[in-house]
Amino acid sequence: MSFRIQPTPVSRPNRCQLFGPGSRPQIFEKMAASEADVINLDLEDSVAPDDKDSARRNVIEAIGDIDWGKKHLSVRINGLDTPYWYRDVVELLENASDRLDQIMIPKAGCGADIYAVDALVTAVERAKGRTKPIGFEVIIESAAGIAHVEEIAAASPRMQAMSLGAADFAASMGMATTGIGGTQENYYMHREGERYWSDPWHWAQAAIVAACRTHGVLPVDGPFGDFSDDEGFRAQARRSATLGMVGKWAIHPKQVALANEVFTPSDEAVAEAREILAAMEKAKAEGAGATVYKGRLVDIASIKQAEVIVQQAEMIAGR
Ligand code: COA
Ligand code: MG
Repeated sequence: MSFRIQPTPVSRPNRCQLFGPGSRPQIFEKMAASEADVINLDLEDSVAPDDKDSARRNVIEAIGDIDWGKKHLSVRINGLDTPYWYRDVVELLENASDRLDQIMIPKAGCGADIYAVDALVTAVERAKGRTKPIGFEVIIESAAGIAHVEEIAAASPRMQAMSLGAADFAASMGMATTGIGGTQENYYMHREGERYWSDPWHWAQAAIVAACRTHGVLPVDGPFGDFSDDEGFRAQARRSATLGMVGKWAIHPKQVALANEVFTPSDEAVAEAREILAAMEKAKAEGAGATVYKGRLVDIASIKQAEVIVQQAEMIAGR
């Protein structure tokens, strides 16, 4: 056990991140009126090359003009392998109002990618006298990104969140699928004539959670492409929540309620967590380090597990 205390990530709900193309300003008001905790206005892959300049202008205008309520407001810039990203950063930071909370850096491949964006952001912030520091979130969506996931999580004090981007990740890894998240037809175990589907995203997700938890960053599950498949979305989101992720993207407004449902601890889960805490209080008062709750062992580690659920519920209730 290291003597270092695991850092706590920023305390804000991040159950659902709703995306919308910066080239489609007609939906911005609808995004603002949604129940998503985080809004991601996109300048990257949902915007065609010819629309990059106008999308940037739309987004800058909307940041100041629209009432985004308490939502965490983030803009996804273009990747560092494109000619667009520096202008995204400079124009956003020079012209967007202070309502902008965060920028999302896609296709992060190493810690130096984050350092480069940090240097540019810092210079523009100083030049413009911006007093509210912009936070960073990144997408891990390449072989390099997952190979360097820990140095990326540690790359800047601006780092707040990290998502898995299933589609680009699958392409970069050479995975034989065109599915965006969820169950993949050919990833199965076979026994006695039966098929059992396993989770091809599991390793990448667990690696992201470990890197994030080590460095006080929120781990987030990315997109689920088939927005007609509610049960598939729920199943993917429940796996992510079980692994330690705090939320998931919505690429269509109907996915917002699904993500909020899964990433808000249920009343039953919170009640059980409180009962475990109470059982351990009683055990401690009696000088015991472990006790029995509903026929199973609970001990000092159970306190920390139960606290994760109670704290998450309290943070969401107080938002
Ligand atoms: N946020 C808020 N509202 C949205 C929305 C979004 N991302 N996408 C669609 N809507 C609205 C529509 O305007 C429509 O509103 P209306 O009922 O008032 O007419 C309603 O939700 C239903 O939309 P629907 O017709 O089902 O979808 P669509 O064909 O207009 O758009 C997508 C579908 C997938 C193209 C669109 O949802 C989208 O662009 N999603 C985000 C894509 C993205 O940002 N990708 C990058 C991250 S992977
Ligand atoms: Mg991508």
